[in-house]
Amino acid sequence: MERIEYVRVPKGLENVIVDKSSISVSDPEGELIYRGYEIGDLAENSFFEETAYLILKGKLPNEDELGDFISKLKRERDVPDEIFEIFIKLKGKYLTPIDVQRIGLELLMAYDEKWYSQSYDDLILRAIKIISKLATITANGYRIIFKNKEPIKPRYDLGHSENFLYMLKGEVPDNFSSRIFDITMILYMDHDFNASTFTTRCVGSTLSDIYSAISAGLGALKGPLHGGANEKATEMLLKIKDENDAERYIMETLAKKEKVMGFGHRVYKKLDPRTAVAKKIFAKILEKKPQYLNMYKIMLKFEEVMWRERKIPANVDFWIGPIYYTLDLDIPLYTPLFALSRVVGWAAHYIEQVQENKIIRPKADYVGPRGLNFPYKRNWLSKL
Ligand code: ACO
Repeated sequence: MERIEYVRVPKGLENVIVDKSSISVSDPEGELIYRGYEIGDLAENSFFEETAYLILKGKLPNEDELGDFISKLKRERDVPDEIFEIFIKLKGKYLTPIDVQRIGLELLMAYDEKWYSQSYDDLILRAIKIISKLATITANGYRIIFKNKEPIKPRYDLGHSENFLYMLKGEVPDNFSSRIFDITMILYMDHDFNASTFTTRCVGSTLSDIYSAISAGLGALKGPLHGGANEKATEMLLKIKDENDAERYIMETLAKKEKVMGFGHRVYKKLDPRTAVAKKIFAKILEKKPQYLNMYKIMLKFEEVMWRERKIPANVDFWIGPIYYTLDLDIPLYTPLFALSRVVGWAAHYIEQVQENKIIRPKADYVGPRGLNFPYKRNWLSKL
């Protein structure tokens, strides 16, 4: 038998390239590119639907293609009432809003007769369905289960971000809030083989369906080391009184060898380029809402002290969580909001994976015992 040469890779697959992708790339120097376009350029100049098309289809849409894509997204906004009836039964249970997204997504599959299809065109249609309906599920799941409110029907005259905020709050957002929210949706949309995307690709690599793969991605995003950090970072910041308190908190946290939430990244060692955009957004917010100046100063102090002490930069979650806070959005929604955008990336990665598939199946470096004798000889088969 041919001898197999196993390749040992670092724990956590750190710095390991596992496959090709043409969707997005992040570089340690502080660059993030979606399909050839730099993140700052897209955030400043594009909008959710246009960047979503780019990520999904690999090129920017022309006017007709964009119009068609937007109409398809709008047509998919409705969610069966039965799903909301199930949500009513979930009030008071041990769930967070991101669990409700996962439950809602899995229920959606039951209403899709072609959930299993892996043809390219069917997958693009499934992606559009999921992106659009997940927004309705998120807003109304939150209203029903956590706020004891009636669901709100989507509006078809509003853009994706605007309509989401409308369903969540029951009123059409002002231009300032919806534009800022839309920019954060671009910042969160994709990020090469991050943990939730890789999870989605692993499920896709078994040729399981797109709903199951994205549901697994949601589960991975929930963790505090990944998407959960935007909620944790905001909660942490709200406990800090001023810049001196920030210095004290960081020094105590580092002394205890604990993590400061919203700092550090597997790829970015100097700068997470999304934070540069997020900081510009925060500066704009301060022009309208100066009451957040103290929070801003505290955040800058966090960056200064973390860099001075450990040379660790802030990541996207450190800035976007507080931006959502200034938009008067409830903290338990921040990770689900991240998911509302990253779902575009998950769908694109799922499609890329199944198009050129090889099952993802690594090997464990087994360090357990061998050769033990099971003590209870029951001999089931000889007695049958
Ligand atoms: N606070 C304090 N120390 C930190 C932090 C932090 N936030 N992040 C990294 N470090 C330290 C580690 O303790 C470690 O120190 P050591 O070498 O002395 O043991 C060193 O920096 C390397 O950190 P690792 O955790 O080994 O780096 P890894 O690439 O495995 O993890 C991660 C990256 C998970 C993001 C980590 O930085 C972290 O836990 N950060 C806090 C949670 C967070 O903000 N997550 C969001 C990430 S962005 C996103 O998912 C969208």
